[in-house]
Amino acid sequence: MKKIILKKSDIHKGNLILINQTYPLKNEFSNTLEPFSSKYSNILLNKEANKWLQAILKAIQSNEKIVPVSGYRSLFEQTEIYISSIEESGLDFTKQYVAYPNTSEHQTGLAIDLGLNQENIDFIRPSFPYQGICQEFRLKMSQYGFIERYKHDKENITNISAEEWHFRYVGYPHSEIMNQNNFCLEEYIDYLKQFDISNPLKFENYEIYYVAMEVEEESFSILDNEEITGNNVDGFIVTKKL
Ligand code: DAL
Ligand code: ZN
Repeated sequence: MKKIILKKSDIHKGNLILINQTYPLKNEFSNTLEPFSSKYSNILLNKEANKWLQAILKAIQSNEKIVPVSGYRSLFEQTEIYISSIEESGLDFTKQYVAYPNTSEHQTGLAIDLGLNQENIDFIRPSFPYQGICQEFRLKMSQYGFIERYKHDKENITNISAEEWHFRYVGYPHSEIMNQNNFCLEEYIDYLKQFDISNPLKFENYEIYYVAMEVEEESFSILDNEEITGNNVDGFIVTKKL
């Protein structure tokens, strides 16, 4: 067990941060990144997310049938994409498919747009069909910590149109719990609030609970088998592996 000091600003860091129009980015993530691969060295991702992404691609023997299209974006890049999308496709389209600067998960390095490897790959809306190798990816991803972030049936919650190419790393077992319950990230973060240290959510050999952050700074005891992440809303999620 170790004692850590949790600061209010720490709620904006970690694998389970919810980034959307209501809860924009409050942290800088450029020091948590690595290149997707030596071939795609210009596409950066959170290191832990990339480790598990590469494991999925290996497990399904993608062999570059699936390629990365867009990973980490700086605020500058997200702003450029937003502006050029308005110029090329108009504001309505842009609001559907490009997050307003500082409300994009791409700025965390935890999101990746993937495309089927073909001659013309659309940068904003790459093709990632619900069949073949792309569907194999989807069937495996929740075992490796990934979710499809913007689904058709959750558009009224996420306020982003269905994006079958955009995947978000949240970590295992959260990805699998979300998958089994068809929760989008907004719903899952809300769902977890009912579980506390004396009444954790139990899933496989994990216990998960929420810790509200109501003060500026707090001393917190964390066990060696526990991981903590902010939710970017109002507190932390602790995941204990039994
Ligand atoms: N396409 C997603 C919503 C983004 O721009 O972050
Ligand atoms: Zn995306």
